[in-house]
Amino acid sequence: MSTHHVVAIDGPAASGKSSVSRKVAEKLGYAFVSSGLMYRAFTWVVCEVGLDPEADPDAVVALLDKTKIEASRRDNELFLLVNGSDPGDALTSDYVNGNVSKVAKIPDVRKALVKQQRACAEATDIVMEGRDIGSVVFPDTPYKFYLDASEVVRARRRAAQGLGDEIAERDRLDSTRKVSPLKVADGATKIDTSDLTLPQVVEALLGQLSEQGVTPSST
Ligand code: C5P
Repeated sequence: MSTHHVVAIDGPAASGKSSVSRKVAEKLGYAFVSSGLMYRAFTWVVCEVGLDPEADPDAVVALLDKTKIEASRRDNELFLLVNGSDPGDALTSDYVNGNVSKVAKIPDVRKALVKQQRACAEATDIVMEGRDIGSVVFPDTPYKFYLDASEVVRARRRAAQGLGDEIAERDRLDSTRKVSPLKVADGATKIDTSDLTLPQVVEALLGQLSEQGVTPSST
């Protein structure tokens, strides 16, 4: 599928995936890719057009064909342009938080975005975080992690970011959808981050990767 290394990091909302993935990517010299940003970017378009993803999934799928999501690399991170515009803070707006899981459960939406996610590894080594990266997007990568944390800790972390995000409802939708639900991928190393600091989690991942032969010098 890809000749480049892919470190897959999955887990529920606010499990620490983004911060950990960004740091691990930085340490390894890989590009960091948040697959959630792609679902968020398309959900923003759905919002702009005024569609209700649950009431009219067919219209959402039709909108996919008219939507251009371009990914480019900036400071070792994926930067998205949606129909030529930078969605900026809109990606974490209440509308997007409240609707992204409803958009992400539509099979044709996933098919299109998974294709884009796989393309990210064609050019470079990546650390990609999401919900189905180890199970569906890159099932063959030997470098898979699943980060979790208690519901209380995750809600606290989200609140500390000042985001009004109903993570319990998103997690419910993400774990129970028919296509590519959130789950621990076969072969993934599971880490409970509830009582760990960011550097401790990063160290745990880098230690495991190093045992598997992935070190900064090998890139
Ligand atoms: O990671 P983040 O919280 O930004 O993801 C936002 C939403 O995008 C998730 O709640 C989920 O519905 C969807 N998503 C997904 N598959 C992924 C990444 C994100 O369905 N690989």
